[in-house]
Amino acid sequence: MNKTLRKAVIAGNWKMNKNRKEAQALITELKPLVKDATCDVVICVPFTNLETALRETEGTNIKVGAENVHFAASGAYTGEISADMLTEMGVEYVIIGHSERRQYFGETDETVNLRTKAALEAGMTVILCVGEMLADRENGITEELVALQTKVALKDVTKEQLSRVIIAYEPVWAIGTGKTATADQAQEVCAVIRNVIANVYDKEAADAMTIQYGGSMNAGNAEELLSKPDVDGGLIGGAALKAQDFSVIVKAATNG
Ligand code: 13P
Repeated sequence: MNKTLRKAVIAGNWKMNKNRKEAQALITELKPLVKDATCDVVICVPFTNLETALRETEGTNIKVGAENVHFAASGAYTGEISADMLTEMGVEYVIIGHSERRQYFGETDETVNLRTKAALEAGMTVILCVGEMLADRENGITEELVALQTKVALKDVTKEQLSRVIIAYEPVWAIGTGKTATADQAQEVCAVIRNVIANVYDKEAADAMTIQYGGSMNAGNAEELLSKPDVDGGLIGGAALKAQDFSVIVKAATNG
């Protein structure tokens, strides 16, 4: 696979961490460390930090994302945020279908699809998360499951819209556990996802698709994971909360 056909993207997922002051401090530290990156650098932050993140990253190469978005344009959805609310602020990226949302907040493949379409229609770039649970891997259904999640999430997404989709393969058993998938395991599933894109769309779309790995990626293992032909970037949790560690991962993608 020719990696030059697509952009490497390293995205931080801060999850429910950092108050405004801490967010400002982290971004201030991060800016000079990643300013020469040749990959795209994104930080996805809690809603309460979006304004701070947008202000602090203005004029830099760091892009800002949200961690979730609702599929309705507006209405009686207490506690939710619409895509237009995000784009009006200047937020360009959004994570959709993270396994924590699927596990704890009732997210399904169908709602992931609805959110994905709403975000794309609003002009956003979507970081779409897929990945198997440990039991799925042990039952030998990882490839089928991830293929299914990918297909349903992208139902009715046009090829033009697909150019604003990044897929993050995040095996649930590797998230926050310190248990990383091996580079070969990551490669295997990322290649399956690319194959799904080739089948549902075409080879051109598959070649252009940025596919990230996520799950305990850190400063020590990023280089090996990112050296794999179908691993085009990373979605980083814990290590994104430390500027130094995150910047080492960005550099690994830059050099990859
Ligand atoms: P960790 O890097 O903390 O394992 O989290 C990965 C993740 O869930 C990113 O979305």
